[in-house]
Amino acid sequence: MENTKTIAKARQGLRGTIEIPGDKSISHRSVMFSALGSTPVHITNFLHAQDCLSTAACMKALGASVEFESETSLVVCGHGLHGLREASTIIDAGNSGTTLRLMMGILAPQPFLTTFTGDASLHKRPMGRVIKPLSAMGAKIYGREKNTKLPITIVPAEGKLHGMLYESPVASAQVKSAILLSGMYADSPTTVVEPFTSRDHTERMLEAFGVETKKDGTAVTIEPVESFHAPSSIEVPGDISSAAYWLVAGSVVPGSHLLLKNVGVNPTRTGILDVLEAMGAKITLENERVSGGEAAADIRVEAAKLHGTSFGAEIMPRLIDEIPVLAVAALFAEGDTVITGAGELRVKETDRLQAVTDEFNKLAPGAVEASKDGLVIHGGTKVRAATCFSYDDHRMAMSLAILGAAGEGAEIERPECVTISYPAFYDTLARLQA
Ligand code: S3P
Repeated sequence: MENTKTIAKARQGLRGTIEIPGDKSISHRSVMFSALGSTPVHITNFLHAQDCLSTAACMKALGASVEFESETSLVVCGHGLHGLREASTIIDAGNSGTTLRLMMGILAPQPFLTTFTGDASLHKRPMGRVIKPLSAMGAKIYGREKNTKLPITIVPAEGKLHGMLYESPVASAQVKSAILLSGMYADSPTTVVEPFTSRDHTERMLEAFGVETKKDGTAVTIEPVESFHAPSSIEVPGDISSAAYWLVAGSVVPGSHLLLKNVGVNPTRTGILDVLEAMGAKITLENERVSGGEAAADIRVEAAKLHGTSFGAEIMPRLIDEIPVLAVAALFAEGDTVITGAGELRVKETDRLQAVTDEFNKLAPGAVEASKDGLVIHGGTKVRAATCFSYDDHRMAMSLAILGAAGEGAEIERPECVTISYPAFYDTLARLQA
């Protein structure tokens, strides 16, 4: 792809139907857990994007069979819970925090060595949040900067890991999942307590593999696992974090009417629907169903007059990846939007609070102010066409594209990072604008 992408101003409403690509979080877990089973699992609607392909490559390197039948359908088969084997070379998690953090949880209890690397962004991200609790369970994990950064090496622990009660300072599904996955191999039960409940795809998918977790408020407990029974198939619902771009575009571009097909609406992920509704969006759920233990629906969105809102720490885990695009909705709303409790955005693929502030202000001067853990967005600020930068962060690139389409157009530098989670994004936008 060229090194800049021109986004045209939408001259009329966006109309049409969009099949939402598979959920990134669930796609990762489907391959990881299937690789710990001993019978083949047929995975459909898998997200064929860089992050999930990193996970597939990791599991293959560790001895699982991973055979693609098409881009979105594959069969994964492992050799059981204790059947992974030492990889012959370094494992590359690419840009994917989920791959690295969950894999650390799976590999910490294994009787072999693993060394991880990743891309430049992943090298900057904090891994101590997983390494510290796993080490407290007895794991031996070493990394740069006092065991907090890539490259990371895991060596066999002395005997079994020990179950523990861990009170996590952050609400993070990656931290929770890593600890629960190690807990499967521990000598006693393991409990993770979070400040607020994060996405529960790990718990739900473990249930499909016959592993029960117990939930009590924001605490989740797992017992040592004796048997692990893979289901014969897993159907991945569409990713609400990808649908988010169309929910916002459909709301703010006048005259729009979009139908988003097959969107996962797990309640731990639907914070964006609550916030957009509070802003006055016209969103309706149709054809609500449950597939593979996960709620899904088709979502209809029509243009609406939005107004500013405020939200904070409590809802944050339910919309953590949607803040950049919600900032676009806020920019086209009437009045200010105040976001607090969003400090986690500073340690995503890039510092998203800083990136949103700097890049949105290029397209709408004076529109955004950042605080230590949040943003104030002045709705109704005059928007112009400008060149802006993705920071090689997929969610920044897509949010800037929606801002450009809803505003006066934009030129995005380093646009190709959308392949991390949504390879068809620009083609879909162009189709809706045609
Ligand atoms: C994810 C959890 C979230 C989210 C990420 C995917 C997951 O990260 O931002 O895109 O699949 O568990 P944190 O758990 O670090 O908040």
